[in-house]
Amino acid sequence: MKAMHAFLLICIVLTCGAQVKAFDPTVIFEQKCDFDWISFRAAGLQGDLKSKLFGQHVALPIILKAVNGFMSNDNSEKPLVLSLHGPTGTGKNFVSNMIADNIYKEGINSRFVHVFISTLHFPHVHQIDTYKSQLQQWIKGNVTNCGRSMFIFDEVDKMHPGVIDSIKPYLDYYNKVDGVSYRKAIFIFLSNADEEGIKQTALDFWKKGQDRSEIRLKDMETLLSTTAFKSKKSDIWISSLIEQNMVDFFVPFLPLEYTHVVQCVMAQMKTKGLEPDPEVAHKVASDLDYFPKFERVFSVSGCKTITSRLHFYIHY
Ligand SMILES: *[C@@H]1O[C@H](CO)[C@@H](O)[C@H](O)[C@H]1NC(C)=O
Repeated sequence: MKAMHAFLLICIVLTCGAQVKAFDPTVIFEQKCDFDWISFRAAGLQGDLKSKLFGQHVALPIILKAVNGFMSNDNSEKPLVLSLHGPTGTGKNFVSNMIADNIYKEGINSRFVHVFISTLHFPHVHQIDTYKSQLQQWIKGNVTNCGRSMFIFDEVDKMHPGVIDSIKPYLDYYNKVDGVSYRKAIFIFLSNADEEGIKQTALDFWKKGQDRSEIRLKDMETLLSTTAFKSKKSDIWISSLIEQNMVDFFVPFLPLEYTHVVQCVMAQMKTKGLEPDPEVAHKVASDLDYFPKFERVFSVSGCKTITSRLHFYIHY
């Protein structure tokens, strides 16, 4: 019980730290839409992805290609639209943070980066119309102020399709919408859409004794176009965006295996300035839940809870 209290306290302290950074008003107003505050570091992104993202051999090269290509093109025809799919804890949020970090000086806390979480920002179905017009105004207002704005939509699978429909015009190949050009903006959608399909693919490979590294993008793409996994409205909506070519890159994230979780823990210790300890990493990893229940191949929560769990295993 005591341990639990200490754990909660640590969490509260950590979150507060993050909030203070996000809402520092002096930094917010200082930031300008210029090269001092916005400049892409290709090597930085590559380094971050290669050293901190584990088990995502399909996603990694797609993200590099997508972001490098877009950021080095001064005449993009449309905004960059990425859709990151997959089970929880596999690195979708992590990757969006890395992209923001390597474009904006203030990273995810930049005033040019806007994060919308469905359950937090658009919770009530009966207020859909308000959300729609508000979101349109925000996107328009922010892109008017700074063309190189980034919008991250988390939990898209929990978002009312109507809300996302309202931003479709901004994602398309238009020179300008109401006098504003969106062609330098970046939209990132995060969702658990097709999660079952992705898990199943990974599991099928494992069952057939095929190596994980043999999983290709096309193994997932065919999934997305088959109706079998489109049980949820959001899956149908996302695939319609892909069919309409509004999403430029579909980026699937695979479920993580035990060894990836160990790597995550080691990297996390390093980030915290601790000596990476394999023994601790194995302990953390083996106490997690895995599926299928008996074979214990894939981590149910990926690397999601390891940061908070680490406190149970080490004292510092
Ligand atoms: C920019 O987006 C934020 C939400 O992230 C919103 O609060 C703000 O009003 C928007 N700015 C403009 C000028 O529309």
